[in-house]
Amino acid sequence: MAATRRSNLFLLVCFLNCVFKFCLAINTISSDQPIRDGQTIVSANGVFELGFFSPNGSEARYVGIWYKELAKRAVWVANRERPLYDSSGIFMIGNDGNLVVVDGGNRTISSTEVNATSAENIVAVLSDIGNLQLRENRSNGLQLWESFHHPSDTMVPGMRIGETVFLSSSKNSSNPSRGNYITVLEGDQMPQLVIWDGAVKHSRSGQWDRRTFIGLRTMNTDYSTGLDVEFNAQEGTTYVSFSAVEVTIRRVIYLNLSGSMVVANWNADNKQWTEIASTPDSPCDVYDTCGYFGMCNDDELSTICNCLDGYEPRNQDEWNKGNWTEGCVRKQQFRCERNNSSTNGTQDDEEDGFMELPRTKLPDFPRYMISPDRASCEAACLNNCSCIAYAFVETIGCMFWENNLIDIQSYTSGGEQFYLRLSHSELGGKQQLKGFGIALIIISGVLGFSILTYIVCRLRKKGISNKRGYRHMISFAKIFVSPKESKSGDSHGYDFGQGKDSEVRIFSLKDIEAATELFAVANKLGQGGFGSVYKGKLSNGQEIAVKRLSTSSGQGIEEFKNEVILISKLQHRNLVNIIGFCIQEDEKVLVYEYMPNKSLDKFVFGNGMRGEMVLDWHKRYMIIEGIARGVLYLHRDSRLKIIHRDLKTSNILLDDELNPKISDFGMARIFGGNQDSENTNRVVGTYGYMSPEYALQGIFSEKSDVFSFGVVLLEIVTSQKNSGSCFQNSVNLSGHAWQMWNEGKALELLDSRLAGSYYDPSEVIRCIHVGLLCVQDNVTDRPTMAAIVSMLSSDMVLPVPKKPVFSIQLGNGERGSSSLLKSLVFSVPSVSESIVYGR
Ligand SMILES: *[C@@H]1O[C@H](CO)[C@@H](O)[C@H](O)[C@H]1NC(C)=O
Ligand SMILES: *[C@@H]1O[C@H](CO)[C@@H](O)[C@H](O)[C@H]1NC(C)=O
Ligand SMILES: *[C@@H]1O[C@H](CO)[C@@H](O)[C@H](O)[C@H]1NC(C)=O
Ligand SMILES: *[C@@H]1O[C@H](CO)[C@@H](O)[C@H](O)[C@H]1NC(C)=O
Ligand SMILES: *[C@@H]1O[C@H](CO)[C@@H](O)[C@H](O)[C@H]1NC(C)=O
Ligand SMILES: *[C@@H]1O[C@H](CO)[C@@H](O)[C@H](O)[C@H]1NC(C)=O
Ligand SMILES: *[C@@H]1O[C@H](CO)[C@@H](O)[C@H](O)[C@H]1NC(C)=O
Ligand SMILES: *[C@@H]1O[C@H](CO)[C@@H](O)[C@H](O)[C@H]1NC(C)=O
Ligand SMILES: *[C@@H]1O[C@H](CO)[C@@H](O)[C@H](O)[C@H]1NC(C)=O
Ligand SMILES: *[C@@H]1O[C@H](CO)[C@@H](O)[C@H](O)[C@H]1NC(C)=O
Ligand SMILES: *[C@@H]1O[C@H](CO)[C@@H](O)[C@H](O)[C@H]1NC(C)=O
Repeated sequence: MAATRRSNLFLLVCFLNCVFKFCLAINTISSDQPIRDGQTIVSANGVFELGFFSPNGSEARYVGIWYKELAKRAVWVANRERPLYDSSGIFMIGNDGNLVVVDGGNRTISSTEVNATSAENIVAVLSDIGNLQLRENRSNGLQLWESFHHPSDTMVPGMRIGETVFLSSSKNSSNPSRGNYITVLEGDQMPQLVIWDGAVKHSRSGQWDRRTFIGLRTMNTDYSTGLDVEFNAQEGTTYVSFSAVEVTIRRVIYLNLSGSMVVANWNADNKQWTEIASTPDSPCDVYDTCGYFGMCNDDELSTICNCLDGYEPRNQDEWNKGNWTEGCVRKQQFRCERNNSSTNGTQDDEEDGFMELPRTKLPDFPRYMISPDRASCEAACLNNCSCIAYAFVETIGCMFWENNLIDIQSYTSGGEQFYLRLSHSELGGKQQLKGFGIALIIISGVLGFSILTYIVCRLRKKGISNKRGYRHMISFAKIFVSPKESKSGDSHGYDFGQGKDSEVRIFSLKDIEAATELFAVANKLGQGGFGSVYKGKLSNGQEIAVKRLSTSSGQGIEEFKNEVILISKLQHRNLVNIIGFCIQEDEKVLVYEYMPNKSLDKFVFGNGMRGEMVLDWHKRYMIIEGIARGVLYLHRDSRLKIIHRDLKTSNILLDDELNPKISDFGMARIFGGNQDSENTNRVVGTYGYMSPEYALQGIFSEKSDVFSFGVVLLEIVTSQKNSGSCFQNSVNLSGHAWQMWNEGKALELLDSRLAGSYYDPSEVIRCIHVGLLCVQDNVTDRPTMAAIVSMLSSDMVLPVPKKPVFSIQLGNGERGSSSLLKSLVFSVPSVSESIVYGR
């Protein structure tokens, strides 16, 4: 008995020994160390494993590499086309030095097919990034082959895809052999990812602009992919690679069965790969959905395809039936195409022009021209009759098109400005205002002219001494007042000439006074940083919010201009919509859509006494996500990088469905493409929401908005004000929140009124965690907005926040503020008031 037990123990020890020594610790295959079915090798850090496996729903045996911990999604398969049907397979170094899969009968099923001299001294090592490398076993030994150069359908961080190294899809979920789709990176200079379905282009990413692929809407933010393109000038090769944004996340990109590139994160909780982005993921992302000169728009309800302006369906009947294959044709000749004889009178003898199409996925097959700016790009295009469209992308340069325009898409956000050549009559007089050259804006509308004259005369009469302000006013009016007939009754409606969907009207002071009953106190909604906000009703019954800028306010014409320009360009569900404005006498008035539910602070800090409801957790969470997306849009997705600079709970408005809308862009700043931060002498913002580097040094960047967002987030969760409330161990909410979080009592931070209602504790804790990361003192410790959106919606492991120590106190120094701040003594009317001060 005892002997048996001992021998059992011995066997167990042997087994464990095997497990640890040969099955786990070993990451190498050599001529005398093959792998049999059932055995595996594991990379040195234990992340990747190599061995035999069967796909789900199949008995066939394949050799593959997978994440050891992360269940069976093989990231690489050796014998894709030729599986084994029993467990007699061996993966080994063959006599010729190749890695081979052989079956029980010693027949080679699959081989790496390289020229090696002999099996002697050749090893295959599974590296820590999941690359299987066949090489000579000596220092500086020749590398003969690596699995990264022979991908299956999956890309792991560190792997590169190029013209000859590409992903190919699997046939089906139980059969990893090659399917129809492949993903390649095409083009050396201006590369784009292309997914082919056999010989048919299935989808394309648009060109790499050194930051992102310009036609990848769903994957174009760094949080979703971390894609990067490397140019190797010496080899003349170009590769795309990707990296996980956070080391702690496991992320792969794979080509799925139906030809979509999918970015997936490992979800540790449900042990699944979770899709976070994919392309194509809509009909419009599929190549050539609308034919030549067709514009695809997923948001169109009735039909996703429409002809470009100036073009009409080639086959109207088929087109109406939703058969877009034949595309569109141009309605009119360009002037440059017409022979002199056919030029009839002066009517149609004007120069061709360009129509600006904002937020466009640019067509395929551009040509490139060296051109310093958009104006010269446009001039060059105009001068060559074969140029039918152009675009100027900062980091790519001048792109133009000559033949057919194909695979064009209209986005609601993101995309590029696209300029389409049209004959003069097609432009219908609405010549693009921002167009180069034709800088003279012909104000033909009598009304337009009279308004301008009115403004100018008014200013003259008032003896405006401020020459600068005067000049601004004129150029402002010049830029914006484009003659277009008023649409609605009595108000003078003018197009801002910024594209068809950003119509901003100019109101007369009389209209505004009528709408607000002479700015009646009863209609006052609130007091903002630079003036008061009133509710109003236009003569057509539309409800509006009127922001009347106080004459003494810091917001001069500069800021006013800023706000109007900014908001009219921005289109996002989570940003407030501007309807119009009014400049007359001393009044500067902005007119917004009216938000029946007013601002978020009423809900968050309200005590229910004025009948505000208490927002449940789900709603709060949706609001947090909405704000995050709105800010992300400002930072990344809109064409311009915009720093809001005054994010705060009272600047978030709620529509009738309690969707959050960010408002108050009076202090926003536009950054150029490569600019990341700016230093200002004029610090504007709101105490409690201002980041340390901004308050102390006047440096602002995306990360200062992130800080403010973090404060807003914490306020929404806790219903406490960041500054101005009393906390046990801390001077402000962020300090208090950190304390509680650190003691594992984060859940106690949740608004006590939600006790007993339904909420997901892990969601609450995650939110607080993200909020704490946002309010880190150190800029580099704060995540980007993109990362935040990602963090909120996935289960990725988050970094541990450090204790935030910075705080600004208001006047009374009792509540121990940092000594750095002693020199800053502020005096402001109320805590939530925006401030401006010079340094
Ligand atoms: C590789 O070389 C080292 C040193 O030269 C040797 O110790 C080792 O056994 C070799 N491994 C194989 C698999 O040949
Ligand atoms: C395997 O396939 C079965 C049915 O075909 C399915 O229910 C199961 O979810 C699959 N498992 C995985 C990990 O895909
Ligand atoms: C397999 O074939 C090789 C030669 O191709 C030979 O050297 C080896 O001994 C064979 N092994 C078995 C188990 O038959
Ligand atoms: C391998 O060697 C053969 C003959 O020596 C040659 O034809 C072939 O091109 C070589 N293959 C590679 C990949 O070098
Ligand atoms: C997968 O493909 C193979 C061969 O193409 C076929 O025999 C099998 O039925 C397919 N399995 C599924 C689940 O579609
Ligand atoms: C591939 O991904 C796309 C986009 O996410 C999705 O619509 C499609 O259903 C996926 N295909 C399969 C077979 O899962
Ligand atoms: C679409 O129109 C083309 C040409 O008019 C025709 O050949 C094709 O069959 C049509 N497709 C469908 C699905 O009707
Ligand atoms: C213009 O002239 C060219 C030859 O010079 C001719 O081929 C073309 O058809 C003419 N176009 C028109 C519209 O008359
Ligand atoms: C059109 O007229 C211009 C001068 O007015 C002449 O130079 C040009 O050759 C003419 N082109 C054609 C196609 O007749
Ligand atoms: C010129 O215009 C008139 C009407 O405006 C038209 O009847 C005539 O056919 C035109 N001639 C040419 C050559 O296009
Ligand atoms: C117009 O552009 C095409 C293509 O770039 C070129 O071949 C042609 O010479 C150009 N024409 C003129 C007049 O510059």
